[in-house]
Amino acid sequence: MSQVTLAADGGSLTLEAGGMRARFHAIWLRDNAWDAATRAPGNGQRLITLADIPKGTRIDAARIDGGRLSVSFAPEGKAVDYDIGWLMANRYDRTHERAPGWTAPGVEPWDARLMGNVPVGDFAEVSRDADALCGWLALVARYGFGKLVNGPVEDGALMKVVDLFGYVRETNYGRHFEVRTTVNPTNLAYTGLGLQAHTDNPYRDPVPTVQVLYCLESSAAGGENMVVDGFAAALRLKTESPDLFDALTRHCARFEYAGEAGVRLTSRRPMIELAPDGELIAVRFNNRSAAAITDVPFEEMETYYAAYRRLGEIIDDPAMEVTFRLNPGESFLVDNTRVLHARKGYSGSGTRWLQGCYADKDGLLSKLAALSGARKEAAE
Ligand code: FE2
Repeated sequence: MSQVTLAADGGSLTLEAGGMRARFHAIWLRDNAWDAATRAPGNGQRLITLADIPKGTRIDAARIDGGRLSVSFAPEGKAVDYDIGWLMANRYDRTHERAPGWTAPGVEPWDARLMGNVPVGDFAEVSRDADALCGWLALVARYGFGKLVNGPVEDGALMKVVDLFGYVRETNYGRHFEVRTTVNPTNLAYTGLGLQAHTDNPYRDPVPTVQVLYCLESSAAGGENMVVDGFAAALRLKTESPDLFDALTRHCARFEYAGEAGVRLTSRRPMIELAPDGELIAVRFNNRSAAAITDVPFEEMETYYAAYRRLGEIIDDPAMEVTFRLNPGESFLVDNTRVLHARKGYSGSGTRWLQGCYADKDGLLSKLAALSGARKEAAE
């Protein structure tokens, strides 16, 4: 049974439904009215601004009618019906404080134990089957990366991966970039050295939020790809030492790339980024493009460097890494705001040819939400 109680001043009401209880303010309810004068019936966009809602808006009366809550507002004299399920799904009356470093529902931090269970999709299958695509995108959203196998071995095939969920983000490196390595251990200059795990292009604002790497040739031994969950690394730092975690969240690092004529990219962002309410939203870590750190007070710089060092040690810890080999026609995608990637060194000789490009995570999550919505509707 649903029940509604109005506060004496009409400033809020309390709704009890489905075993839940939540308070809602008059101004919040009025702003979130779904009547045709407030929201466009076709696209759901809001037709009014807050200035169109009187400042002293109060609830005159509220009653439950079937699955709907009917509210009338003063001084407008306007009556609005709400779906109780929608209200409860959007309730904001929480009693618990969220500790800094909380992650969004559905985000699952991982470490080396994920190794036997790398999120993977079959390119041919996800290309023709919306359910398979939805399943693979859901894995990417959950773990921050995903591999695709059984793709075509052809120049530019990585664009077909991006086409599955969105659009390429073009940069000064082009629509895509080539990663070609000739491995010849007799000449150090051509030895494929390993790279420390990093996020790409932290000097961009906004940073590219998705990176795709696609393998076209791989005859050299070694050179495995490696990924590390930046969220798991940040959370481990927080558990080990809250002070060091705080140092990296409270101060901005600086990143820079000026490696070619006409380009001077700079950014000023924390290595561990929290939303104002403490949600862990991004990790930036890249030794090659770290610029001089100038935004940390003198008294805190040594602590900052201790935190930076410790985060690097955690990232380098084999207990954090998941490795996999990419064969021709195979690719992987990372959420570049969360998962760090790297390449292991080579031991033999041969060639390796990968193509890479950037894309956007908002488009990927939009595709996933649209596919999941269609799936739910089909099931109902
Ligand atoms: Fe990279």
